[in-house]
Amino acid sequence: MVVVLVRFADNFEIENTVLMAVKLSVNINKVALIRNSRGGNLPNLQQIAIDCEKFGADGITVHPRPDQRHVRYDDLQALKDVNTTEFNIEGYPNEDFLNIVKSVKPHQCTLVPDPPGVLTSDDGWDIPNNVHLLKKVISELQAEGIRVSLFMLPDEKLMAGAANVGANRVEFYTGGYANNYEVDKELAISDHQLAAKAAVAHNLGVNAGHDLNLQNLKFYCEQIPELLEVSIGHALISDSLYYGLQNTIMMYRKLCNR
Ligand code: PXP
Repeated sequence: MVVVLVRFADNFEIENTVLMAVKLSVNINKVALIRNSRGGNLPNLQQIAIDCEKFGADGITVHPRPDQRHVRYDDLQALKDVNTTEFNIEGYPNEDFLNIVKSVKPHQCTLVPDPPGVLTSDDGWDIPNNVHLLKKVISELQAEGIRVSLFMLPDEKLMAGAANVGANRVEFYTGGYANNYEVDKELAISDHQLAAKAAVAHNLGVNAGHDLNLQNLKFYCEQIPELLEVSIGHALISDSLYYGLQNTIMMYRKLCNR
């Protein structure tokens, strides 16, 4: 049977047509990393964001970290100024991060529980131990018109907690899926399928990201009908060294169709 998720804001109803394509948000952190390595403005991050959209990206994602080793806080307004699709800022909600996000007002803010200095985000929120923080931060961001997503492990038991603190969406950490995909893809996806159903049952939209690539993306999009958006950086920017940015975005974009 073919189904479609029709979206009303972030609520869903299932009807009998085709599944909507998953939105591809391109994470341009790695481009900023190259720029920062020489201290100048090459490659130009703003131009890359414009071109990613021109080549088919449905959104731009950035993840400024406290050490500002890739995208920096002072990049954010410039990126918002040229954005014509969806701008998603990820990060740990410390005071500096919240101030800049509230000022820039991206369409979406994805809160991640990263400790400072972590290499990459590889764990989801421990909601029971952060209820107060998350409720406060989420309501502050939503008051500025920003949709809030929480980076979470794909565990169906955690979805009620995400809904309880007021999140609009959850972003499933897909690093485990990517690691296990080659071994047993059906097993690798099973937790995500259950968690996605639980998320929607709690009126949460479903995003996903981390280690998605040209090999494992299509299966993920096909197997998770609830999926709204993926954010992809490391593999996509690496692939663009071989295929070029335009071809690469088109290849990833195609895998998001279903
Ligand atoms: N989602 C979050 C919360 C991230 O921190 C990252 C990496 O910055 C991604 C998605 C994208 O992961 P990748 O770079 O492996 O595609």
